[in-house]
Amino acid sequence: MFISFEGTEGVGKSTLIRKLHAYFLETGKDVVLTREPGGTPLAEKIRAMLLAVDHDEKMCADTELLLVYAARSQHLNQVILPALAQNKVVLSDRFSDASFAYQVKGRGLDQAKLEMLNQNFVTRLPDITFWLDAPIETGMARARERGALDRFEQEKMDFFTRVREGYQYLYERYPERIIRLDATQNEDQVFQQALAALG
Ligand code: TMP
Repeated sequence: MFISFEGTEGVGKSTLIRKLHAYFLETGKDVVLTREPGGTPLAEKIRAMLLAVDHDEKMCADTELLLVYAARSQHLNQVILPALAQNKVVLSDRFSDASFAYQVKGRGLDQAKLEMLNQNFVTRLPDITFWLDAPIETGMARARERGALDRFEQEKMDFFTRVREGYQYLYERYPERIIRLDATQNEDQVFQQALAALG
């Protein structure tokens, strides 16, 4: 089973993933915890490039999209597909929905570019995607408490509003795969929502 976790900044993805990881381990499942961008040594280097704020030039939106997909391709082929082939449960902190939300809706890139990449490089989609949804202000306050903001977190509110709308669009488009969790609730309640959805 392949489960991804999505949402805007500071909605509590990491906490939920940690809890589900522990839950799957307790139930005797072999489970792989991973994230995007990243998840392999090479993809983590690409992540560092994507999140860094100290570049001497502005990163073009197309460059950002291609870096995200370079990392994804490495991650999918080196980590996700092999784990699934061994019947492991894969929990990924973000996957391809994030590219629609951030690069297409957030940055305003042409959706055809994303579709071209998805068709050619995303050979496996998650079975379940948990979308942790909360008002942007709530999440940004949590992100600020964590410390220095990365290149994405430094974006303005209207960027994150578009990202959230992107997730809402995907949720309506793929109701059989994407499960919305009310991330304004506390950690335990969010975890219970996720367990209930897993049945
Ligand atoms: P986070 O998941 O640790 O919050 O940080 C990853 C950042 O990368 C987050 O701000 C969203 C961004 N991102 C994209 O813009 N596109 C993508 O496809 C993915 C996976 C992440």
